[in-house]
Amino acid sequence: MYISFPNLLAINGGTPVRETLLPYGHQWIDRSDINAVMDVLSSEWLTTGPLVNKFETCFSEFTNSKNAVAVSSGTAALHSAIFAAGIKKGDEVIVPAITFVATANCVLYLGGIPVFADIEPDTLLIDPDVIQSLITPKTKAIIAMDYAGQPCDYGALRDIAEDHDLILIADACHSLGGKHHNKMVGSLADLNVFSFHPVKAITTGEGGMITTDNDELAKKMRIFRNHGISTDHRERQIKGSWNYEMIELGFNYRITDFQCALGISQLKKLPRWIERRNFIALEYINCLKELPEIVPLITKSNNINAYHLFVIILESGKLENQRDYIFKALRAEGIGVNVHYSPVYYHPYYQISLKYSRGMCPKAENIFPRLLSLPIYPAMQERDLNDVRTALRKVTDAVL
Ligand SMILES: Cc1ncc(COP(=O)(O)O)c(C=O)c1O
Repeated sequence: MYISFPNLLAINGGTPVRETLLPYGHQWIDRSDINAVMDVLSSEWLTTGPLVNKFETCFSEFTNSKNAVAVSSGTAALHSAIFAAGIKKGDEVIVPAITFVATANCVLYLGGIPVFADIEPDTLLIDPDVIQSLITPKTKAIIAMDYAGQPCDYGALRDIAEDHDLILIADACHSLGGKHHNKMVGSLADLNVFSFHPVKAITTGEGGMITTDNDELAKKMRIFRNHGISTDHRERQIKGSWNYEMIELGFNYRITDFQCALGISQLKKLPRWIERRNFIALEYINCLKELPEIVPLITKSNNINAYHLFVIILESGKLENQRDYIFKALRAEGIGVNVHYSPVYYHPYYQISLKYSRGMCPKAENIFPRLLSLPIYPAMQERDLNDVRTALRKVTDAVL
């Protein structure tokens, strides 16, 4: 006789809540996206063609910014932004302790020094008060990161940047579609950086964008993405000229026209998708009211959260030291939880090669072992949401 134990955790041999793993994030590609890409594939220009400009125009309209520069990834966008900001060897750039490594790595690419700032524990956003204490004569820029989709306090950050003559960069790879004081993400900092990786708000496969109201900075980045050459292939074709000049040491960070066609098609759906992400987040928030040992991050009242991630914190008590077990137990139940992120300077490259030491950002270090991201993406169905709720209750009941 087959006996099922519905409460026995899958990690201990019980039946999982679901058979297939629910990812923490996922793209949503429909027929209109596929048609848009197909049209470009049979057109004249596969790269440096008209769709790149069109995507840039749509994006700058959407974000209410003057210029948008499309590149091949979010990392390329960060690199281009830091280049445009004029960061050079020995310059210090303040970055949040908890972020994806690329936010800090881009400073290293140009010989700069990332200086890690601690975060606010209830939002995980960079703490403006901490930034003040880290500014030295070598500080040239601040990179804020809109963790999980919530914009940072750009009012306070702008004041600090203006007082100390620093460039303010928003790593907005999580927050496309969000708002701060009713202003669109993309219009909040001097340079605003986006990624179009498949788990992000919209995708182009790989891809990135930088928005800025500063025409000079936009021009620098257009040159940087094209090997440091002052004209691109299509501009030369239109002029009937072969001649080009390389005026900076740039990279090939160009994005293709078929990726841009996908980006334009995806962007049309973004407002609906942000609503859907907010709906899922609200469902989670309501569910967590029954589980006081787990708290969600807060969204400040002046922000619209784009909810790239839904991050929970395992509060003190029995769950506190159990993150890695809960992670494995939820994965065994078919729930693709994840962890975003360890403090950047915990990574071996920062510890061993660059000699950063632990203890720099105590709030980030205290919260990191208690972080977990739950699945959230617009294509998630009601039954997926129920599976997450069921698995969360099952695992926490077993651990508590
Ligand atoms: C905060 C943040 N910055 C930068 C990046 C880099 O973007 P990409 O993967 O497109 O290079 C990511 C992507 O994961 C990110 O989450």
